[in-house]
Amino acid sequence: MAKKSVFPKSADIPERFRWSGTLDQDRYLIGGELRQWKGETEEVYSPIYVDSRPVLLGHYPLLTERKSLEALDAACAAYDRGRGAWPTMSVEARIRHVEAFVGRMQAAREEVVKILMWEIGKTLKDSEKEFDRTVEYIRDTVTALKDLDRTSSKFVIEQGVLGQIRRSPLGVVLCMGPYNYPLNETFTTLIPALIMGNAVIFKPPKLGVLLHAPLLEAFKESFPPGVVNTVYGEGQKIIGPLMQSGRIDALAFIGSSHVANILQKQHPKPHRCRFVLGLEAKNAAIILEDADLDEAVKECVLGSLSYNGQRCTALKMIFVHATIADAFVEKFISAVEKLKCGMPWEDGVFITPLPEPDKTSYLDELVKDAQKTGALVMGHGGGVMDRTLFYPAVLYPVLPGMRIYSEEQFGPVVPIARFVRIEEAVEYIMDSNYGQQASVFGKDPDKIAKLIDPLVNQVCRVNINSQCQRGPDLFPFTGRKDSAEGTLSVTDALKVFSIRSLVAAKETPANKSIITGIIRERKSNFLSTDYLL
Ligand code: G3H
Repeated sequence: MAKKSVFPKSADIPERFRWSGTLDQDRYLIGGELRQWKGETEEVYSPIYVDSRPVLLGHYPLLTERKSLEALDAACAAYDRGRGAWPTMSVEARIRHVEAFVGRMQAAREEVVKILMWEIGKTLKDSEKEFDRTVEYIRDTVTALKDLDRTSSKFVIEQGVLGQIRRSPLGVVLCMGPYNYPLNETFTTLIPALIMGNAVIFKPPKLGVLLHAPLLEAFKESFPPGVVNTVYGEGQKIIGPLMQSGRIDALAFIGSSHVANILQKQHPKPHRCRFVLGLEAKNAAIILEDADLDEAVKECVLGSLSYNGQRCTALKMIFVHATIADAFVEKFISAVEKLKCGMPWEDGVFITPLPEPDKTSYLDELVKDAQKTGALVMGHGGGVMDRTLFYPAVLYPVLPGMRIYSEEQFGPVVPIARFVRIEEAVEYIMDSNYGQQASVFGKDPDKIAKLIDPLVNQVCRVNINSQCQRGPDLFPFTGRKDSAEGTLSVTDALKVFSIRSLVAAKETPANKSIITGIIRERKSNFLSTDYLL
């Protein structure tokens, strides 16, 4: 069905959101220096067309293997096998550096938000939310670290042995975030890794690079040389050599399990590298016979279509009890048809252009494949494409064997299946390669309890009468099977990028006197009873 294009003419864009010129991000941070890049660059195009043309936003450096290894050398030098100023610094001093960074970061809010909208097509509201949530995450991280440090400030005496147990950094951490949350999910690993005393190399995702440019200066000003280093370019060229060097002590990667497997195998001694991975998911919603349909529809629309369904936590399969399936679909369609499709800065917009190249064709393939075996695109205009914009397609009834039944769509296609026996939905989750979260909608405590017990052993969060989501950020965020390795939350991330280390001594008068001397004269940052307020 023909639809009026939502892409604007230049003059239609409000002045403050208009993109003019190009952002040529020609610097990279290595060893505390913002170096100028004069080599090859990559062009960055927006998924937003203006005056019927794709907008060239700017360029970023395509670093070489040699430059990437220089970043590694700088990080290793800053860590200096644990002797560097950063890993041996007091927690209090490291916190001051991170706080200085947040102050500088906040000054760049407007600029970062604008680039987020243009670079990945995220709505203004969600771009602002991503920025603010990241700042809040950093502040919560500081609070959590103070708590952790206070608990570690005391001595333990056990079987005549005195001990002080704290957490120490791991070494050099490589952080790689995803395109859908290029700021937030990069920083939710980068900041905890830094604050725990690690030296960091970070590579922005392939889409979502330019938005980091306004923060480069802030990194340079806020941290000692070599503690934060940035690399840009093709993964194979610049990340492969880092992993193959064997000098990466932890990899924080949010992306596909396919790439994660390659990176893991590249490390010559994988047991020496800690892997913190956030990978794919195909979270299912189960709508029971007695569910409140309005509530279920509202949550499932948000769950499946917020940021165009490009969330790892999105609901990517919906099972509805056969007795209410038609009624659910009718209400669902009516809610989806009300969603505004348009440009990220427009008031009330929900569906926006997709940044991944050829994404709309891929989604179209999924829809056509499902149609071949009996699924219908429900309602009016679903599945229509306009360059990078894909009008949400609600597919019903979806059956096993269709690609959409098991493939992670990561986009605005919503598959709905009917079930008669609850086992059909539960077995779907059990057979799935993924194990992040599930949502259960219903009113009967008995029925819900019967689902909770098996499901918590298959996924890592069961949401009752609500969509799947990562937040609140103090809650653990993880998954089973191909969905994750390691757990992230404000407090878990501090642990995941550190290891417990202790100083122990037999409780003899001589040892007590040594320890007292060290503490009283504040000779060590580790062996210390200083209490952070
Ligand atoms: O892409 C995965 C994100 O971690 C999801 O976070 O549930 O807050 O949107 P969210």
